[in-house]
Amino acid sequence: MNVMRDVLASQAALAEKKAREEGKGREECWKTRFHIMPPAGWLNDPNGLCQYQGKYYFFFQYAPFSPYGGLKFWGLYTSEDLTDWSYQGIVLYPDSPWDCHGVYSGSAFTEDGELELFYTGNVKLEGDYDYIDKGREAYVLFTKSRDGENYSPKECLMGMEDYPRDYTCHIRDPKVWKEGDRYYMVLGGRKKNSQGAVLVYSSWDKKKWKYEKEITTSTPFGYMWECPDLFRLQGQQILSVSPQGVPRQEEAFQNLYASGYFFVEEDTGVEAETFREWDMGFDFYAPQTFRDDKGRRILAAWASVPDTEKEYGNPTTEQGWQHVLTTPRELRLEQGKIYQYPVSEIDSLRTEEIPVSQREDIWLEQPCFDLEIEEIDSEEWEIAIEEDCRFSYKNHRAVLEFTGTLGAGRKARRARIDQVKSLRILADTSLLEIYVNHGETVFTSRYYPNRKERQISLKNLSGKVRLFGL
Ligand code: FRU
Repeated sequence: MNVMRDVLASQAALAEKKAREEGKGREECWKTRFHIMPPAGWLNDPNGLCQYQGKYYFFFQYAPFSPYGGLKFWGLYTSEDLTDWSYQGIVLYPDSPWDCHGVYSGSAFTEDGELELFYTGNVKLEGDYDYIDKGREAYVLFTKSRDGENYSPKECLMGMEDYPRDYTCHIRDPKVWKEGDRYYMVLGGRKKNSQGAVLVYSSWDKKKWKYEKEITTSTPFGYMWECPDLFRLQGQQILSVSPQGVPRQEEAFQNLYASGYFFVEEDTGVEAETFREWDMGFDFYAPQTFRDDKGRRILAAWASVPDTEKEYGNPTTEQGWQHVLTTPRELRLEQGKIYQYPVSEIDSLRTEEIPVSQREDIWLEQPCFDLEIEEIDSEEWEIAIEEDCRFSYKNHRAVLEFTGTLGAGRKARRARIDQVKSLRILADTSLLEIYVNHGETVFTSRYYPNRKERQISLKNLSGKVRLFGL
């Protein structure tokens, strides 16, 4: 019996019931239709993404008691097709001495019919600490299931004494995979000299882990790297991280914290100059990838950035919830770059095709749409969605811009793009994902129109246009 768990479970059940009841009779025009949102309160990172017993499992960082965050749990959604998600409840509670201040991020590994979870247990000591060098403990915890519903007692696999001495207490977010007959784990960390880095461990049995090496840049690239993921795409090793502390620039690293990837050459480090950002919009962080049984490498991210509330917000907090996950995206390596394609299952959400005239504004009776433009041949153009959102291209620069209250404080994000040949805009009620050149560059952003209808206008944008309701 775990009293802590029972208390947390009944409080969370109450919070979710309240959210369901309040949601009912109310016009919730920002509730997403095909993007994962929290049943109540707050959501952040995608965790433990995998396919298990024929279903997709998407766990997520979940703080059910408040739309502004708080104590972290793992919630779970499952789906057969990556579009229609059903909530399965809370799977991990902060109910042990190793994770009493938060069940932090981690990953899933499936083998021999088992679903195994590796995650960070966060413990904050009481006292006068800086919580960087002292006062915080981060454990690597483990639990497994044979049915996806019942999980074994938590086991602690690593603690502070297992990490290198030149690291602060900020070490977290294990991602586990297998190569040959050996298992590997990466952890993200902050070194004592305020340099972000990744720790690599190996194991023969997934229980005893041996420190192998560190991966970082020769000069610091941010002070902390969160949510690492090391995987292969057509044989090429890729390291994805979300670095904090990279100086902001006009057309790069425009968000408070960054997120992107390095190509890793065997046995050498990684270099800051080769880092590529995953997304150029306002809302993208902490992505995680997994391989499914079709052989696809699929990425999903948190459609937000931590600590940005002073710059821009999400008025869904007034309705008791905050944040969503991005559309799952298939990654493909083409000509030395990673392209992000919305998984093809999304196409099945398309309802009727809506006729488009490029001379007149397009009026949609529903908020969700999929706009595709191929063979673009103008050098300078603009798309407006509602009055106050503009996506434009001029002098090889794409700009996503909000005015008024539509972006809830979001202003502009830019990206250098040599030539724009195609565009796809996937719009959910309160989320825009703009895929340029088949996902060569992506802009992800929340937005908050106050009505169900949408008005779209294309200015000087010639090409093959197709528009679908979703
Ligand atoms: C990233 C992150 C992770 C951590 C989790 C806690 O958004 O800070 O590093 O494990 O969120 O919710």
